[in-house]
Amino acid sequence: MMPGGDSAPAIFLLFVLNVLTCLPLGHASLPLVINTWPFKDATEAAWKSLQSGGTVLDAVEKGCGQCEEAQCDGSVGYGGSPDERGETTLDAMIMNGDTMEVGAVADLRRIKNAIGVARAVMERTTHTLLVGESASLFAENMGFTAEDLTTNKSLNIFLEWLKGNCQPNYRKNVFPDPSKYCGPYKPRAPVTDKQTRGHANVHSHDTIGMIAMDQGGRVAAGTSTNGMTHKVPGRVGDSPIAGAGAYADSSVGGAAATGDGDVMMRFLPSYLAVEQMRAGADPSAACETAISRIKRHYADFFGAIICANTTGHYGAACNKIAGFSQFRFTVSNSETVTSRVLHVDCF
Ligand SMILES: *[C@@H]1O[C@H](CO)[C@@H](O)[C@H](O)[C@H]1NC(C)=O
Ligand SMILES: *[C@@H]1O[C@H](CO)[C@@H](O)[C@H](O)[C@H]1NC(C)=O
Repeated sequence: MMPGGDSAPAIFLLFVLNVLTCLPLGHASLPLVINTWPFKDATEAAWKSLQSGGTVLDAVEKGCGQCEEAQCDGSVGYGGSPDERGETTLDAMIMNGDTMEVGAVADLRRIKNAIGVARAVMERTTHTLLVGESASLFAENMGFTAEDLTTNKSLNIFLEWLKGNCQPNYRKNVFPDPSKYCGPYKPRAPVTDKQTRGHANVHSHDTIGMIAMDQGGRVAAGTSTNGMTHKVPGRVGDSPIAGAGAYADSSVGGAAATGDGDVMMRFLPSYLAVEQMRAGADPSAACETAISRIKRHYADFFGAIICANTTGHYGAACNKIAGFSQFRFTVSNSETVTSRVLHVDCF
């Protein structure tokens, strides 16, 4: 920061501010940016956008877009989570809590800025969700650059997977045995393995989900991810599904989820959390209810959710499993000075 002898008191002041600002988890103030995981640069990009007069939609687009460029944890943006064929494909969504408009893309190929394309779907079509090759063509027509999303890193992940007999693997009830061999696969009778699920690394799907709220309580939410490493081509997770990956309603608040999307999307956790807040639940309790609902059917699912209401109160919850006992998320509001990484203990 500043050169010379002034830095010691300045550092002490920063320390005091840090101590003061890290204590009140759930301390409310508006405007607010909150997102999943310790993706601080994304939070700060969104916050900066709000501070410079951007709308909540701009903030969510900027914040998630920052993660796409920075390839947050390798699980957002290009060059991560190669599918069974080695290709990176992207899912993203943005939701306007004032108008309840949603724009989303899924299985998007060759375009880096998935959240930007999601916003274009919302603003330049009357549709909600575009997928696959046609979504890429739409994006190109709207001025987005088409480029290869493969990097040396994603290529290596793919090649290592091939070398390791295609493990982990998300197929079941096929021949040859997908727990031992690579494809191509054919259906195998009888269908017996109902619950077998490849247990993915908890860090292979750290989707960014973000909620932004302005002084007037206007809410937007969004997500961006490259999905699950080694997924079956065409697989779409919870992120681009309204009510699953995220949800926003300016008369209540917003929520965004992360984790095992294949399971979580069956329960619309973000929608459930917002409805809980509508019925009077505080944000932490709303988040817990959404996690509990899934837990009842999938006790060992990997997942977490963030929730915020229109007075800027927020909370989070996660399912406690081996290797995942705390969930970190990031908040910016006028109390935090800069962005702050907070955590909740999973239950
Ligand atoms: C990727 O690998 C190729 C061949 O090994 C190498 O020439 C290239 O510089 C690498 N690119 C990056 C960005 O590391
Ligand atoms: C948001 O949640 C807090 C904490 O439960 C509560 O005090 C506040 O009234 C809620 N705000 C709204 C608008 O419901």
